[in-house]
Amino acid sequence: MLMVIEPCLNEIDIMTSNPMTFAPDFGRAMTHFEAQPTYTVSPLHHMALQGQEVLVKDETQRMGLGAFKALGGPYAIARYISDQWQANKGEKLNAARLQDGDVKAFAAEMTFVCASAGNHGLGVASGARDRGAKARIFLAHTVPKSFGARLESYGAEVVWAGDNYSQSVAAAVQDAADTGATLLADGTWQGYTELPKLVMEGYCVIAEELRTQLAKAGNWPSHVFLQAGVGGLACAMAYMIRHNWPVQPEIIVVEPDAAECLQASHRAGEPTNVTGPDSNMGRLDCKEPSMVAWHTLEKCHVSYQLLSDAEAEAGANMMTHLGVATTPSGAAGFTALHKRLAEFADVPEFLPLVIISEGQV
Ligand SMILES: Cc1ncc(COP(=O)(O)O)c(C=O)c1O
Repeated sequence: MLMVIEPCLNEIDIMTSNPMTFAPDFGRAMTHFEAQPTYTVSPLHHMALQGQEVLVKDETQRMGLGAFKALGGPYAIARYISDQWQANKGEKLNAARLQDGDVKAFAAEMTFVCASAGNHGLGVASGARDRGAKARIFLAHTVPKSFGARLESYGAEVVWAGDNYSQSVAAAVQDAADTGATLLADGTWQGYTELPKLVMEGYCVIAEELRTQLAKAGNWPSHVFLQAGVGGLACAMAYMIRHNWPVQPEIIVVEPDAAECLQASHRAGEPTNVTGPDSNMGRLDCKEPSMVAWHTLEKCHVSYQLLSDAEAEAGANMMTHLGVATTPSGAAGFTALHKRLAEFADVPEFLPLVIISEGQV
């Protein structure tokens, strides 16, 4: 099962400080979370799907927010505040100092702005609240009103803008430019890469937890299915798997057929936007890839798979019946596995790993 792979980070990238290079300091992300009172390692379940063992990393309870995104925005905010403090005051902050009144008063001057189809907004809202900062979240009119209320319960200001996710992103970018607020997107584009890299650095914690859990079990997956929106989760996972997992699996990136921006970019050999109808996999319904994520995935030798809305709905129901209540987005990696299960019947030592990326909402 050992494959020869190219490292994700090559010397040319290091020498040119290519902004598209993802080289996370995942150790400091682990250190950060291990100091947080709400942090626990998320469970790794062993489930059976038609007689096939499946490893299921369950992100549905992550840090009380109910999705892996709790590792992204809140971490980037904590890092940003620490970096700004150090630049201004010359003091390096540890986790305990971040909670002190003088640091919170400093953070209270900051407003973090983003667009969200769901979980990233929650991460930014809760991360800002926890550090004493402000958050302003832009939501497209297609997002359920109840979600706006949930964000407001975290103290965020909610602005309804645009008919789809891309339009809400454009509104958030404009707002940050007009007001001087800090844009904290989960996607990256030309000229905007550094804060979203911190978001993805936070997601690396999932892969590090898995590395420990799998080493303990002595059982490494042969195939990892990763659902993608802009590609941040897939990027962080693929990077870490190729970086330090001792047994190399195949990596399959799963997208809605209505939003295949990463696969289209792979085919075109450059970041490519797509058009399509709205998908019921709302969190994955991104028509524009994260450039850094795509650039990284290209180096990690991944393959791609698409899902229809009907498949996604059925897969979410199946996983919910198996015991982890989730959504079409949360189950998409599992659904992609189920769709192709027969294909893997003759693969020796076939052991799939999926991530349930959010709980039922
Ligand atoms: C539950 C869930 N799964 C997967 C994703 C995809 O993550 P990314 O946009 O980083 O690819 C998201 C993004 O919001 C999400 O909320």
